[in-house]
Order: sequence, then C-alpha cells, then structure tokens
Amino acid sequence: MEKRGGNILVLTILVCVFATYNLVLYLQPTSGSTAPLMSETALEGEKIWQENNCTACHQLYGLGGYLGPDLTNIISHPYKGSGYAKAFFNSGVSSMPKFDFSETEKEALVQFLEHVDRTGYYPNLNAEFGADGWVSIKYK
Ligand code: HEC
Repeated sequence: MEKRGGNILVLTILVCVFATYNLVLYLQPTSGSTAPLMSETALEGEKIWQENNCTACHQLYGLGGYLGPDLTNIISHPYKGSGYAKAFFNSGVSSMPKFDFSETEKEALVQFLEHVDRTGYYPNLNAEFGADGWVSIKYK
C-alpha cells in the first residue's frame, strides 16, 4: 500500500515538472527569426508563381523542376537582374511557355524573386581545388 502511494507521489511530481516545463517553454514570446517579412506585392508574386506552376520547370533554393534554371539568385546575378527576368516572363523561350502578364504582375513576380534572393543562396557553397589536390568547401 505504502509503495503505491510513493508511486503516485512520483507520478504527480513528474506531471507537475512536465506541466511547468511546458508553461515556461510555450509562454515565451517567439523571437530570433531573422527572415525578412514578405511584402504584399511579393506575396502577390508568390501567388502568380504558384498559379502558373513555375516550379514545374524552375528551382528555388535548389528545389523544383529541372527543365529551366534555378532562379534563387537571378535578381542579384551580376549579368541578369530584374529587367532581364521581366523580359523572360512574356517572351517565352525554348521550352518556356509564353505568359501574358500585366506590368503589375511582372513587378509582383520580380518582388517575389527579390525576396527569395534575399533569403538564401543556391548553390550555397563553392568548391575550390588547392594546389595540393585537396578540395576546400567555402559556404556562402
Ligand atoms: C515548361 C517549363 C517552364 C515553365 C512552366 C516556366 N519556365 Fe521559365 N524557363 C524555362 C526554360 C527551359 C528556361 C531557359 C530558357 C533558355 O535559357 O533558353 C526558362 C528561363 C526563365 C528565366 C530566365 C532564367 C535565366 O537565368 O536565364 C526566367 C526569369 C523564367 N524562366 C521565369 C519563369 C517564371 C516566372 C515562370 C512562371 C510564371 C516560368 N519561368 C515558367 C522553362 C519554364
């Protein structure tokens, strides 16, 4: 009988510790997220991106279809950028279909791609071959 009481006491203590731990953990304000928020226009661009299934052929952060190139850093690319990207949307090239976006829609797509560009790199590493034959990896 006495042993049973002891078990119940231990169980109660464990439940109390668990409850306190959860209270402390989940009542803390969430902070530390450094990802910039998406603007309304960028969100609109994301919607256009999804509705037109750009991911079927393009990758973002290395994920997506492989018919077209990865577009993660197209905006900050030294020879490409927003004007270059916009030129592709409605012209249609090789296996990319010709879209019929308005200027507002094109701008929204560019803002979405700008947001993606600010939040990651792809590929996020460079491999360099040393004179000694070793490969060193440099992460961006
Ligand atoms: C059916 C496949 C397909 C779909 C869907 C598609 N694309 Fe493309 N896209 C391509 C291909 C292939 C290329 C490469 C064309 C070339 O360089 O000759 C390309 C090129 C591009 C480029 C230029 C990339 C560069 O680095 O030169 C941009 C920007 C682009 N597409 C944006 C989009 C957007 C935005 C959408 C959705 C609205 C989209 N594409 C939908 C196949 C596609």
